[in-house]
Amino acid sequence: MVNVAILGYGVVGSGVAEVLTENNGQIDRKAEEDIRLKYILDVREFPQSPFADKFVHDFAIIENDPEVDVVVETIGGARVAKEFTERALKAGKSVVTSNKELVAEHGYDLLRLAEEHGVSYLFEASVGGGIPIIRPLNQCLAANEIEEIVGILNGTTNYILTRMIRAGLSFEAALKEAQQNGYAEQNPTADIEGHDACRKICILSALAFGRHVYPAQVSTEGISHITLADVAYADACGRKIKLLGRAIRLEGGKICVYVAPHLVDGEDPLSGVEDVFNAITVRGNAVGDVMFYGRGAGKRPTASAVVADVVDAAKHRKTKKYLHWDQGDPELVVSPEGLESAWYVRMNASIEGVRAALGEISALARPGAPAGEVAFLTGPMTAGALAEKLAGLGTPASQIRVLDKNH
Ligand code: HSE
Repeated sequence: MVNVAILGYGVVGSGVAEVLTENNGQIDRKAEEDIRLKYILDVREFPQSPFADKFVHDFAIIENDPEVDVVVETIGGARVAKEFTERALKAGKSVVTSNKELVAEHGYDLLRLAEEHGVSYLFEASVGGGIPIIRPLNQCLAANEIEEIVGILNGTTNYILTRMIRAGLSFEAALKEAQQNGYAEQNPTADIEGHDACRKICILSALAFGRHVYPAQVSTEGISHITLADVAYADACGRKIKLLGRAIRLEGGKICVYVAPHLVDGEDPLSGVEDVFNAITVRGNAVGDVMFYGRGAGKRPTASAVVADVVDAAKHRKTKKYLHWDQGDPELVVSPEGLESAWYVRMNASIEGVRAALGEISALARPGAPAGEVAFLTGPMTAGALAEKLAGLGTPASQIRVLDKNH
């Protein structure tokens, strides 16, 4: 018998309770153990819940119960969640989480703590919701030097961009829908400004390149400045605007890691990833490109990944399952400033002036463009070179990198 305690009965925690109970037979078969939900910790009361008899309000009950083997942390944030995770690991319990903030900020310390206490710290659900990505990256692709990871890592922003493109919805209306569907963070700024995608690319980078990557090391730009005009111009050149997290191995052992909106070519499978779906392309030096696709947020998809980790933790009670990466290094991560690419630019200027400044460009058109507005795609150059060339013409209203996977 393996006893499980869930910390936090929010969207994900309640999904975990549901999936554990509904799919109990299948889960027990896979784990080769009886897995039983023993406690749910929450500050609130849920008298109508089918799990009403499992609720406790004091973490010490779980911490001090020797029957609890696996603790599922779905509280979120990096404060209370960190304290309870540390206490659970020290008490000899494996911890499973969907908490990307905690893993991105403190993963290195928590993995070490788990190893010291002979238990597992697992976080498949922290990246890509229901998509299996942590385990494949760590195990199935272990033979490769990872050269690049690029992906749509935030369901809320992908949902917003899709609804703007497909239904012409305003940014605010699309965000409201994402919140109603349980995709958005408690404070959706983390989604919209790219912080959530940043935490996820940090976790993938740490697994791929073997050292902790801190969110503060990663240049992060969100989608709050994207307008329907940009969406229309992207469409005019057969591309889609997508918020991407990207990590590239550079010569000399450094990595370039960043989050930013990109124009993605219609031929690239990432351009067809819509709504709450996430997709991650990993390029290994032996395997080439591998792509992972699925629902990146939401109650049951995320619970699916959490429960898979519960099964793994249960199976490895005796033979221990460790994930590992080394300490971070302030010199490891470089910004995308040196990365050349084509750029999409929208600004008020004359197209002749733009051509004189930049040489060959491809001009773009959209119906209803106001007088004086120009939009174009440049040739490959760094952001700094673009700014220098455009300096005499004014500041772009919008400037978005065009994804070129051969950077
Ligand atoms: N807010 C996150 C998203 C939840 O929209 O992707 C899943 O991590």
